Amino acid sequence: MRLEDRQLLASIAALNVEHKPGVTLSEYTSLGIGGTTDLLLIKQHESIPGLLQLLDDKKIQQKFLGGGSNLLVGDGELPWIVLQLLSPEPDVVLDGNLARVDAAADLGRTVTYCAKHDLGGMEGLIGVPGTVGGALRMNAGAYGMQIGSYVREVKLYRAATRSIEILRDDQISFEYRHTSFAPDDMMLAVTLELPSKSYQEIIQGIRICNEKRRASQPLGQKSAGCIFKNPPDASAGRMIDELGLKGLSVGDARVSDRHANFFVNAGSASAKDMLALIADVRDRVQKAYGVKLENEVVVWHA
Ligand code: EPU
Repeated sequence: MRLEDRQLLASIAALNVEHKPGVTLSEYTSLGIGGTTDLLLIKQHESIPGLLQLLDDKKIQQKFLGGGSNLLVGDGELPWIVLQLLSPEPDVVLDGNLARVDAAADLGRTVTYCAKHDLGGMEGLIGVPGTVGGALRMNAGAYGMQIGSYVREVKLYRAATRSIEILRDDQISFEYRHTSFAPDDMMLAVTLELPSKSYQEIIQGIRICNEKRRASQPLGQKSAGCIFKNPPDASAGRMIDELGLKGLSVGDARVSDRHANFFVNAGSASAKDMLALIADVRDRVQKAYGVKLENEVVVWHA
């Protein structure tokens, strides 16, 4: 979708929001899939209520992009624009055991920055690509930990009240790859309370997680991490593997040979290819095991 209304573009610029026309979202997603639209880069959280009011007044649909690492975007010209936060400098501020982190901060860099200041707990997340806001929204986790356990406070834009709010941890529920945030809530910043640990101890934990990840996941390939959530007490990856589906392809969309719950873009896969592969695998698992796998990857249909 293209923003062409000059008055609207002038109002957007007056809010100190940068307009990038015609970006190709395959360049913004770890899967390397996604069509074209306009992107608005937000430099200050405070401009968000005004910006969304402007877009609502013109009935312009929008999506909020984090790091693009758990996302499958549709092909072609997209019917909505995309908003993204620009990371401020610095994007992590420490105060004792508290880390105040901007949602746009890179997750891996945040984990290592905290480690260097003897704050641990998040070692399992080290190889997870994406932003802190993205990890927070879906309660990212790995190797027995999840980010939600460390959250004390979240600053977010609530579409329902059209305002920026601060929520305490007891006002949010964090479950396996799920949070109580509304789909149109925008994560803006988070305060994490992290346990004190020595840098050496944290680095040791990080090394172990890195090795496990390297041994079992297709890290060098374009993917969105795990495609399906694990059903209760089962592993989606193991089920897909047991059915002999590693290597199954639709066009360049392929079930990884390394980890069967990772679907990779082995060349120039389209969203159509990837969605067809997802539907096929879900169908086969349901027929064989009677379990309907739920998407873990977020899908933005055209
Ligand atoms: N397995 C197979 N074949 C495969 C893949 C896995 O037999 O192709 C078996 C493994 O041998 C193991 C079991 O299935 O016995 C579980 O596999 P793994 O330890 O790789 O964990 P997972 O349940 O598949 C989850 C998360 C990952 C996270 C890892 C490590 C989900 C959907 N996935 O994977 O998160 O990195 O644990 O903690 O919860 C993601 O969220 O995108 C993601 C990759």
